[in-house]
Amino acid sequence: MPNTPRIFAIIPAAGQGTRMGDALPKQYLPLAGRPMMFHSLEALAAVGRIDHVIAVLSPLDRHWGAHDWSAFPEKIEALFAGGATRGRSVANALELLETRAQPDDWVLVHDAARPCIAKALVEQFLDEIDDDPVGGLLAMPLADTLKRAEPALMRVAETIPRDGLWRAQTPQMFRYAVLRRALERLPDATDEAQAVEALGQMPRVVQGENANIKVTFAEDLPIAEMILARKGGVPL
Ligand code: C5P
Repeated sequence: MPNTPRIFAIIPAAGQGTRMGDALPKQYLPLAGRPMMFHSLEALAAVGRIDHVIAVLSPLDRHWGAHDWSAFPEKIEALFAGGATRGRSVANALELLETRAQPDDWVLVHDAARPCIAKALVEQFLDEIDDDPVGGLLAMPLADTLKRAEPALMRVAETIPRDGLWRAQTPQMFRYAVLRRALERLPDATDEAQAVEALGQMPRVVQGENANIKVTFAEDLPIAEMILARKGGVPL
């Protein structure tokens, strides 16, 4: 009988976070008393079905060693293998997993910059993707009306119909061999699904949650703190 595929979780955390306007890389910014990426690591490590949680850090990272990660079980590790783009960081990690991962093992990728992910949402996502031939991603249907503006004029050029449009979130999950091939071909894809789509496959869309925000700008930090406080049962 074939072995049950294992799940390797990868957290790309090798970005510089320049849009934050802060010298400290975004993944280490203090959030609810912890470095931001602590929250993603914590949520993924708490999922029993995930076998390994791997943070991909910049080879020049000087911050990891300054924090206390001892709260985590042994399934967490750091790889100082980040690349020039998010896709390259994930691709480097996949290369280093070559001797450990089987072609059919699952690779779940989740941004360090999405610290509000709920363990229950990850579990629901795993349930939905479990037997999917391609894999998939969390995403939200577009709620706002979508405009394309002329950048120089800051005037609306057209309204884009939003039917069938989704905002991609993470986690995203694909088979090890497929994702490796996809990112070798398209290392600058802005998410894993885009690279898999370029192979001609159609990733499955699983509805996420608005609370799973991506922290990009400084103004996102207090919103993420509020969401985390509510998750922890702390009154706002
Ligand atoms: O910058 P952005 O928010 O799009 O980055 C998404 C995620 O990818 C972040 O967790 C960031 O640390 C990571 N990243 C990376 N390697 C890069 C650029 C971004 O691991 N070269």
